Amino acid sequence: AGLAVVAKAAGKLYFGSATDNPELSDAPYVAILSDTKEFNQITPGNSMKWDATEPSRGTFRFANGDAIVDLAKNNGQLLRGHTCVWHSQLPSWVTNGGFNNATLQSIIQTHCSTVVDHYKGQIWDVVNEPFNEDGTWRTSVFYNTIGPEYVAVALRAARAADPNAKLYVNDYNIDGTGAKSTAMVNLVKSLQAQGAPIDGVGIQGHLIVGQVPTTIQANIEQFAALGVEVAITELDIRMTLPVTDALLQQQKRDYQTVIAACNAVPKCVGVTIWDYTDKYSWVPSVFNGQGAALPWDANFNKKPAYDGIVAGF
Ligand code: XIL
Repeated sequence: AGLAVVAKAAGKLYFGSATDNPELSDAPYVAILSDTKEFNQITPGNSMKWDATEPSRGTFRFANGDAIVDLAKNNGQLLRGHTCVWHSQLPSWVTNGGFNNATLQSIIQTHCSTVVDHYKGQIWDVVNEPFNEDGTWRTSVFYNTIGPEYVAVALRAARAADPNAKLYVNDYNIDGTGAKSTAMVNLVKSLQAQGAPIDGVGIQGHLIVGQVPTTIQANIEQFAALGVEVAITELDIRMTLPVTDALLQQQKRDYQTVIAACNAVPKCVGVTIWDYTDKYSWVPSVFNGQGAALPWDANFNKKPAYDGIVAGF
């Protein structure tokens, strides 16, 4: 029936895929990406990041992001903006600018309001990866200069630019319960106590075959209990290569486990995989010796993981 079809039949808003501009010249790739029975949501993997959108101060570049927005619009797909404030893929004029607190706050405000205004009417990962594994704050230029308040500064700027956008904080290794997930719970509570706009928690979901946390549903429930939405925003489940039948079968079960956990919690509104084919996965370039993390193989054949996703909804 298609992944988006089964997700919507289960009451979810969307099932989506990340994509990136260089892939859009691959016609067989685009055909599946544009099939709204499979995907009714798209996330740009790189083209809305700070280095892409504001490479020098006050100079904004929207062409690559616009190309992905146009594709999604033509297909009738939702779009998830990714991401306003992140320590990575951040131009050195921000990282090494030596700005004081007030100036960096105004730089965040200008950046987030300009980008969220340009890409209006979307879901946004406003802040990405604020925490360390132990739940302490990551020492980015934003945290070091502004303190934890940088998160609310970014969210308020995004809300002012587009009152209709759903605003998320997103992180990895917050799939199961633990110190990092607790930090996210505490951040949401603190934002709510200050009256800062926060609509959702994004669980990236970069996982390893055979190692899906057993507490994933309980963890989604603890986020949902805060009154916010939850989404799985960057799901992939990687394996140590070479691919074997046993690993593919375990991967199928793992995808089913993750999807079933989201499915069980009404406030978990949707799932996005971090691209759909192993041809374009980021995994092999970052995790040495690992790959085959997605439900379609590099030749666009569906893997057992695809059936695991269907079974999870
Ligand atoms: C990755 C992209 O997929 C790669 O193409 C790029 O080289 C690095 O970033 N968490 C995130 C994403 O929030 O933005 C990252 O995307 C993957 C990890």
